[in-house]
Amino acid sequence: MVTRMHDDREQFAELQRDCSRRLQDDSTLQRLSMDTTWQADLSNYSYVWTWLGLPIIQMPTDILVMQEIIWAGRPQVVVETGVARGGSLIMYASILELIGEGRVIGVDIDIRPHNRAAIASHPLARRIDLIQGSSTDPGVVAQVRAAVAGAERVMVVLDSDHVHEHVLSELRAYGPMVTEGQFLVVADTVVEHLPVQEHRPRPWHPGNSPGSALDAYLAECDRFAPDEYINGKLVMTQSPGGYLRCVAR
Ligand SMILES: C[S@@+](CC[C@H](N)C(=O)[O-])C[C@H]1O[C@@H](n2cnc3c(N)ncnc32)[C@H](O)[C@@H]1O
Repeated sequence: MVTRMHDDREQFAELQRDCSRRLQDDSTLQRLSMDTTWQADLSNYSYVWTWLGLPIIQMPTDILVMQEIIWAGRPQVVVETGVARGGSLIMYASILELIGEGRVIGVDIDIRPHNRAAIASHPLARRIDLIQGSSTDPGVVAQVRAAVAGAERVMVVLDSDHVHEHVLSELRAYGPMVTEGQFLVVADTVVEHLPVQEHRPRPWHPGNSPGSALDAYLAECDRFAPDEYINGKLVMTQSPGGYLRCVAR
């Protein structure tokens, strides 16, 4: 009975892996999805979602897959640079709450009082620590490094300033904190694939983006490999190729 259940789950997991490969290989779908992502971005599609009451500036597939990653990997600490209105921190904390252990550390250069208050008064606040400052400030990096010291499972999400130099500095500072088997997520790699976002002027653009920084980092560091299954199945995502598994100590 147990074996049959296990076999059935394995078969379904294999079906899921096959679906992911087919989605990834479907060039028509990939083109349509990039067109749809761009068209939706013109109306700020990623701004319209909340998680347990707080705005989470992500696309639905990215939110869903983060749930899968945290549930499967059971990180003891999730570090995220880029807090904004706090919804992503609350999302990670809610999964950790169900798991029964784990903390979230949020770093942001500008934690506005109303956002800090909304996070502090949330039922999941006790799982969250906030650090205000630039994520690449050596003092901030040292605080985060001290906070993750000794943890066996550490995951990192980079979602702050998306210009190349900043993201590359973050990768160099926070990449080493990720423990083997856990994920490093580089958000907004889609910038590399879209036209310049003139509807929402920002300093980042193709060639100066999280995607270009990630390429540079992967050329100098072999601890991470893009997770083919996760990246393959997202279809519509802010972070194509941005889900990396730590494959070495
Ligand atoms: C895209 S938002 C984060 C969205 C959030 N992770 C979510 O899913 O809801 C980017 C955030 O990065 C912050 N930020 C910009 N530059 C930064 C820096 N140098 N260090 C840390 N945070 C920074 C901004 O203040 C902003 O709140």
